[in-house]
Amino acid sequence: MLPHDTLGRPVRDLRISVTDRCNFRCAYCMPKSVFGQQHRFMDRKELLSFEELERVARAFVALGVEKIRLTGGEPLLRKELERLVARLATIEGLDLTLTTNASLLARKAQSLRDAGLDRVNVSLDSLDDATFRAMNDVDFPVDRVLEGIQAAAAVGLPVKVNAVVKRGVNDDGVVELARYFRETGHTLRFIEYMDVGSTNGWRLDDVVPAAEIVESIDAVFPLEPVAAAYRGEVAQRWRYRDGRGELGVISSVTQPFCADCTRARISAEGKLYTCLFAARGTDLRALLRSGASDDQLAAAIGAVWTRRADRYSELRTERTSELPRIEMSYIGG
Ligand code: GTP
Ligand code: 5AD
Ligand code: SF4
Ligand code: SF4
Repeated sequence: MLPHDTLGRPVRDLRISVTDRCNFRCAYCMPKSVFGQQHRFMDRKELLSFEELERVARAFVALGVEKIRLTGGEPLLRKELERLVARLATIEGLDLTLTTNASLLARKAQSLRDAGLDRVNVSLDSLDDATFRAMNDVDFPVDRVLEGIQAAAAVGLPVKVNAVVKRGVNDDGVVELARYFRETGHTLRFIEYMDVGSTNGWRLDDVVPAAEIVESIDAVFPLEPVAAAYRGEVAQRWRYRDGRGELGVISSVTQPFCADCTRARISAEGKLYTCLFAARGTDLRALLRSGASDDQLAAAIGAVWTRRADRYSELRTERTSELPRIEMSYIGG
């Protein structure tokens, strides 16, 4: 019997952070003011090895996982990530994907594809170069991200684009993003700015509700809703009425989707988190390094999942907002 949590949710989707480092400093995730010189990133020996990650992945697949997403920080900063992709690609019937800022994608698209990656999701918040450079806060030009997307598409990797929308920062560029990706045929998803971590100074006033985003695009390019592709899909899907592809919105603030949340997350040092907003994880690395068998590993993970009761986004109250939380850069969204 595959495990279900206390709210009847199976585990289907595993998100593996392979590094806590990033070469961008998006203020909503890893603000410079906090992640400056003084911030301590993990040492290499603290990270799970590719062999350990493959064992963890196989244990999750035995428990029902069908999709594995590699995240970071920025996952392409992890040395020889292709070797991990190649190992995971040997697992039968898995949807194997990656979420990246695409800064290194043009260089790595072919080798990732060759290693067996199925697709990629690229984070891109604005097409306006000045806005984009300000949002990544390391002056990275938007053209290089667009080149990365094109390179991925050219080697046959399907691409989705994720844009976090922050009021007064990039909300004026929403229609422009829709216009551009309607033409290229890549699915674009807008993400409501979330209160993850405790460093980004999140305020409800900065959130642009998904309904408002859909309305502003619908006024220019008429839209109609599309049914979800699978239980637990985080994005609500919309289709252009003129047949020009799809758009998604991820409304975790205004319309939480915890009831169908089938996601587990592993930090780069091997802690298992059952919610993006969790304060504490379960140390799988200690178990791996103490010589546990594959069955013991799967049993330990199954036990954590069976006890799971998380539904932070549905609760999001004054009280929970005061509690300590992990950072997005630590757990990879
Ligand atoms: P697809 O399989 O391509 O649909 O991917 P996905 O939507 O599962 O993954 P992706 O990394 O592209 O997720 C997009 C964003 O949605 C993340 O970066 C988060 O901001 C948000 N998100 C994903 N999962 C969760 C979740 O479990 N809870 C909340 N609150 N937000 C989530
Ligand atoms: N709110 C919403 N999405 C966020 N991401 C990072 N921080 C936040 C936040 N505060 C997203 C990035 C990327 C993914 C890894 O997480 O844009 O798509
Ligand atoms: Fe930005 Fe993604 Fe890096 Fe966070 S991990 S700073 S969202 S590029
Ligand atoms: Fe899942 Fe937690 Fe996000 Fe709710 S808040 S959807 S339980 S990760």
